[in-house]
Amino acid sequence: MIRSVVRGFGAALPKRVMTNKEMETKVDTSDEWIVQRTGIHQRYIAGEGETTASLGESAARAALARADLTPDDLDLIIVATSTPDNTFPATAVNIQNRLGMRHGAAFDMQAVCSGFVYAVATADAYIRGGLAKRALVIGAETFSRILDWSDRTTCVLFGDGAGAIILEAQKGSGTNADRGVLTAQLRSDGIHGDKLYVDGGPSTTGTVGHLRMEGREVFKHAVGMITDVIEAAFEATGTTADDVDWLVPHQANRRIIDGSAKKLGIPLDKVVVTVDVHGNTSAASIPLALDTAAVDGRIKKGDLVMLEAMGGGFTWGSVLIRW
Ligand code: ACO
Repeated sequence: MIRSVVRGFGAALPKRVMTNKEMETKVDTSDEWIVQRTGIHQRYIAGEGETTASLGESAARAALARADLTPDDLDLIIVATSTPDNTFPATAVNIQNRLGMRHGAAFDMQAVCSGFVYAVATADAYIRGGLAKRALVIGAETFSRILDWSDRTTCVLFGDGAGAIILEAQKGSGTNADRGVLTAQLRSDGIHGDKLYVDGGPSTTGTVGHLRMEGREVFKHAVGMITDVIEAAFEATGTTADDVDWLVPHQANRRIIDGSAKKLGIPLDKVVVTVDVHGNTSAASIPLALDTAAVDGRIKKGDLVMLEAMGGGFTWGSVLIRW
């Protein structure tokens, strides 16, 4: 059986850090309020010349270097983003060009905060279906550019960044002992479209728009949706919470992360948390967290790693990977 095995990983952050203290100078908020409600202490904000594509390119180059590969070795690029450089062409094609890659296929995927989970699931399906051998999967965002910087209920939550992994087709035995993606579970339900959205778009206002969110409504659904897809992953693979070495959640909010881990019976020392330093970077948050925990030696080859996310749409999903 063909498995999609993680061959490399990388990340990139903008140069500029914005602390909660600095946020206090922009809107009527406090470090104490932000930390207590979200766990966020700081976020990175893209400056001039830093875009979703440039951050994605840097993350991709780091992943290629770690995998000891060149762009010639890839045949697919998927970029999960809700903040593309342009409405079109796709940011993935832009990054393909920046990498000097003239072959293969590249496209974007839009599932907001669940984007990286959706992109990994898609790359895995392409690889297992024989359509690709090596896929570069990127989550990259510049949410700072769609925030309403006068709205304290949203602007304190988000940040910019990018992360990437390279998935490679390798033969496996078909058991949970295999390295690679073991299962992916995806869900969406558009009835929640008005709870977290951007109030603009090419076909409606002709503008980019700003992020709008009913925070309490999102919070109310988050833990239930996250546990739903994680339990589905357990059921699909015959694994349990005890088997998981690392839970790498979408980094939206410390309280959502802690609440989900508790409900699933996963101890907090097995949960990778980066929301304190990155804020919510939407589709970039999981690959940024993966990079952090793999670089510092927590996530090791052979570890069972559960990814999960929930976001605008709503969309939600999980991926279970043996690293
Ligand atoms: N600073 C100070 N006060 C604030 C701020 C702020 N930045 N934002 C809101 N407040 C005030 C409100 O005005 C309100 O004041 P009031 O009682 O006088 O009206 C009070 O704080 C409480 O506001 P709530 O919105 O009820 O605060 P809550 O405890 O729900 O926390 C939060 C808000 C953090 C957004 C929470 O609802 C949450 O975490 N929601 C999940 C949403 C999320 O994380 N979304 C990320 C994107 S979705 C995803 O990635 C899954």
